[in-house]
Amino acid sequence: ALVVRHRMRSSGRWARAMAILKDLEEKCATPIGKLRQVADAMTVEMLAGLASEGGSKLKMLISYVDNLPTGDETGLFYALDLGGTNFRVLRVQLGGKGGYVVRQEFEEVSIPPNLMVGSSSELFDFIAAALAKFVASEGEEFHLPVGRQRELGFTFSFPVKQTSISSGTLIKWTKGFAINGTVGEDVVAELTKAMERQGLDMRVTALVNDTIGTLAGGRYYDNDVVAAVILGTGTNAAYVEHAQAIPKWHGLLPKSGKMVINMEWGNFRSSHLPITEYDQALDVESLNPGEQIFEKLISGMYLGEIVRRVLLRMAEEAALFGDSVPPNLEVQFILRTPDMSAMHHDTSSDLRVVGTKLKDILGISNTSLKTRKLVVKVCDIIASRGARLAAAGILGVLKKQDRDNAARDGSDMQRTVIAMDGGLYEHYTRFRNCLETTLREMLGEEAAPSIVIKLASDGSGIGAALLAASHSQYLELEES
Ligand code: GLC
Repeated sequence: ALVVRHRMRSSGRWARAMAILKDLEEKCATPIGKLRQVADAMTVEMLAGLASEGGSKLKMLISYVDNLPTGDETGLFYALDLGGTNFRVLRVQLGGKGGYVVRQEFEEVSIPPNLMVGSSSELFDFIAAALAKFVASEGEEFHLPVGRQRELGFTFSFPVKQTSISSGTLIKWTKGFAINGTVGEDVVAELTKAMERQGLDMRVTALVNDTIGTLAGGRYYDNDVVAAVILGTGTNAAYVEHAQAIPKWHGLLPKSGKMVINMEWGNFRSSHLPITEYDQALDVESLNPGEQIFEKLISGMYLGEIVRRVLLRMAEEAALFGDSVPPNLEVQFILRTPDMSAMHHDTSSDLRVVGTKLKDILGISNTSLKTRKLVVKVCDIIASRGARLAAAGILGVLKKQDRDNAARDGSDMQRTVIAMDGGLYEHYTRFRNCLETTLREMLGEEAAPSIVIKLASDGSGIGAALLAASHSQYLELEES
């Protein structure tokens, strides 16, 4: 009798776990019809954000980049890329006239977590010190004309209100950064002061978002690049807009007639987004409640954390991992997206990787195959939702650019390339495949072949150096 009662209890638990799973699946559902609504809402918000300052959740920031690299850029330039858990410093010797990158060197430095929530000057001092050290290691194979100051493209991957190509104030921190006293400040001035404190003589000639850097780096190698998307710790997109289509822009109309826009699509929200109670709780408990809602459904910083929250619920309400809740399962952000990805890609028959990850990270040992399968299913639901929403976002941008449809007059469709960067896209294969399949499905057979997503790993570093080159203080000197 005892055995029977135990079995019933455990099958009741399992039924409860399955009910939670079913509910999750329903609430995360993204049928194509819903994705089309999301894409349309994205297009609508883009228009509203371009119309007036504060007109939309989409900031549609003006980048002051009205010309993209041509291949003629020449000389030695530096770039500094800050925006995730690592920052990179880079130097490139540009060949000019189609010579492209003659030489390039970079270094990657991880940012101590305490600096991400510390003070502004501490962060900038740390960065400037690493940069100074890197500059000091410059070899003879790099050439700087005598008497010239070194120039830097600064990729700063947060929302910035630009005041020129080389200055701008931070609107807010995102992605786990929460540093006092930087919001509202000119980040180039902050960096310049820190460089001076290091005795480093260098001038920032371009301040760019990573999406803008990726777009510039992508265009350098491929003329058909018209948009860039980042799927990494955070998510965002940039694209080339007609300057006349930006009512809120009161400056001179650029000669090119174009202006690159940093959408800050991470902050997009819409009633069409499939938001669950897990997402709501994550948002409320985050460093930036109410902000970056699209980003919190899609990007690498959050996917693993959503999965953790679902598993915690299953532990609490369905005793999925035994009678007590594993303490580690209650630790925020303990389950990182790369670990989620590893579990999601486990192809072994006994889901060994899932077992190991559950044990090593969450301290849950001896899981049954059935339980492991359930965990993989949760990963799949959360990753698919994110990937499909990202595809809808891309479709929204293509629609705005009128590149989502085969030409009606029967002429061939223009090739359209989206430069992509970010670890989530690069390393999470199932996420990437899902995104691409979904985009193709939404575009349809006719349009899909002419839309290309091109991975541009660290395109943003090169892109920033290229923009530093095309905005060099010595340029006019050279042209005359
Ligand atoms: C966050 C930032 C944005 C950046 C993106 C990708 O959304 O706000 O500026 O482009 O992350 O790094």
